[in-house]
Amino acid sequence: MFPFKRNRRLRTSASIRSLVQQTLISPSDFIVPLFVVEGKGVKEEIASMPDYYRYSLDLLKKEVQLLWDMGLKSVLLFVKVPDELKDNKGTEALNNDGLMQRAIKTVKEVAPEMYVMTDVALDPYSSYGHDGIVENQKILNDPTCEVLAQMSISHAQAGADMVAPSDMMDGRILYIREALEEEGFTDKGIMSYSAKYASAFYGPFRDALDSAPGFGDKKTYQMDPANRSEAIKETLMDIDEGADIVMVKPGLCYLDIVRDIKNEVDVPVSVYQVSGEYAMLKAAAEKGWLNHDAVMMEQVTAIKRAGADLIASYFAKDVVKLIS
Ligand code: PBG
Repeated sequence: MFPFKRNRRLRTSASIRSLVQQTLISPSDFIVPLFVVEGKGVKEEIASMPDYYRYSLDLLKKEVQLLWDMGLKSVLLFVKVPDELKDNKGTEALNNDGLMQRAIKTVKEVAPEMYVMTDVALDPYSSYGHDGIVENQKILNDPTCEVLAQMSISHAQAGADMVAPSDMMDGRILYIREALEEEGFTDKGIMSYSAKYASAFYGPFRDALDSAPGFGDKKTYQMDPANRSEAIKETLMDIDEGADIVMVKPGLCYLDIVRDIKNEVDVPVSVYQVSGEYAMLKAAAEKGWLNHDAVMMEQVTAIKRAGADLIASYFAKDVVKLIS
């Protein structure tokens, strides 16, 4: 007796393996997160994110040109706000000449077709390091949504293509969508961080922006990593409220959630492979314990296979260099 079905036939050579390969990674899968700071000539490495930098606007130009030339077509902007400009209400976020607003214009000057997404949340601007306005140690929901809507308008006016609210307040997509429509920004998109977990993997990002919460944690707004069904509830609500793209965050530990959501919705699903995921691999590779490029490709491929249409990743450049 011989087995008629031999699965190894389709694995016998690189050619046949590539012919039957189901998940392909390309530059257009990626959104590149960028950290921006005030100053001139600044390119500071983030201590817990080897080979990842904060750029001042002049050097941001070079970086954006490089990304565009590599075939990377979208950036997600974050700003590091000086302490003296932080307050409870995130007033600086609404400054039409603030760092974010200037960063948006800078990117568009260099690469007008670069699709510019912007982080919308109070934490980089908050003296408390929280994603909402604080009163008596509590995060106020609705007043925060009002500010997020104004912030979105300011980003849209500066030329952002899509706003990406990462705060997890209830109802904020509706506030933002209504505000955009009222102001005539009918083409501006919303990528909602819909299923964002209260994760310990955000540590290096908070180092990058100096945005760690000053008291408590973010568990009254971000989701409990133990929960599965509320990810779908959150995501469907955001779509109802007008989100164009939804997101699961972090990536690797949450691929079951990615698949649940992919099976449930008909809008593009993005995944944020977060700072801690980046740091973990860089550290293991530095020690010589993991093969950096092989593990990186396995990770982004797994994220896409799980259902991601888009991946926000600090590895974007590394991946594109490797595959091109
Ligand atoms: C904050 C925000 C965070 C990230 C993106 N936007 C951190 C947080 O919620 O504390 C994390 C990204 C990363 O870790 O790479 N609104």
